[in-house]
Amino acid sequence: MVTGGKTTLQEYVEAEWQNKSQIQGLNAVILAIAEGSRQVQQQVQQAALADALGTTGETNVQGEIVQRLDEASSSIFVETLSTSGHVAAIGCEEIEDPVIVDGETGGGFIVLMDPLDGSSNIDVAVSIGSIFGIWKKAPGETVNDDSLLKKGNEQVAAAYVVYGSSTVLVLATQDAVCGFTLDAQSGIYYETHPNILIPDACPYYSTNEGNSKGLDEPTKKAIALLRDKYSQRYVGSLVADFHRNLLKGGIFAYPADLNRRDGRLRLMYEANPLGFVAEQAGGAASTGYERILDVLPKELHQRTPLILGNKDVVESTVSVISGD
Ligand code: AHG
Ligand code: MN
Ligand code: MN
Repeated sequence: MVTGGKTTLQEYVEAEWQNKSQIQGLNAVILAIAEGSRQVQQQVQQAALADALGTTGETNVQGEIVQRLDEASSSIFVETLSTSGHVAAIGCEEIEDPVIVDGETGGGFIVLMDPLDGSSNIDVAVSIGSIFGIWKKAPGETVNDDSLLKKGNEQVAAAYVVYGSSTVLVLATQDAVCGFTLDAQSGIYYETHPNILIPDACPYYSTNEGNSKGLDEPTKKAIALLRDKYSQRYVGSLVADFHRNLLKGGIFAYPADLNRRDGRLRLMYEANPLGFVAEQAGGAASTGYERILDVLPKELHQRTPLILGNKDVVESTVSVISGD
């Protein structure tokens, strides 16, 4: 594979954080996510051949049927993160309670993750992903369940991986948002999308139009305005819809409706990490009534409405929804 002297993810994170004492070890956490995603990508590619598609027959804490790849990816990332030497605790969509790796000396970081996003698309070979929010534990903090309920604005980094026509890991730090593409043969991620900023143009809106009948009147009006102005693109995998909108411009909206009064998506490991990425790339993320990153979490798996993407369009959509 000719990589043309591109920077590897390892070179990037070591240059970014190696000498920043207050976040020492964050590079090891990102490399643990990268290694886990390399293993997940292999499983995703081989699942049908290895009879690893389909469900486990179990229902998770969300009340959703667990796909075998949901469980496999959860185990892979728990393993790579727990053995990184820098993760004190993990919150995971597929695991009801927090995984306390080592509350005392297990390292300085707390990771909240959606190990496999877009489960309904696994069996039909449509793009899926993994999402990670990373917080730093307070100095001297003994990590317990409540330690995972930090506001999104306290994240030190966030990342997602999209397993699509290529496998791309997007990493947002306090300084920049960068994309890295996996060379599956070598297992190495190379920087392919330096300094990502959401384009000012907004060609697309992403929402599940099938929910429109259950929306309240202001939200119905907000979605109608998007429908009148933009082209609809909806994959049904949040990561894939968000990644397209991040690179090409666009807005994603999963508002509350009559059947989902708190929305469908999860605050801690979908909205917060992607909200962090969006804001670092010049975009915005809102519940429709407040900034996602300001929401005070009450429980690990709580849901939230999510309006995410191009800043101007998010702000105008929110003003219609909230009536401000
Ligand atoms: P997950 O597979 O982690 O449960 O997430 C699925 C989510 C998200 O990826 C996507 O945007 C949304 O579900 C789609 O929901 P609908 O099928 O209701 O549109
Ligand atoms: Mn998800
Ligand atoms: Mn998931």
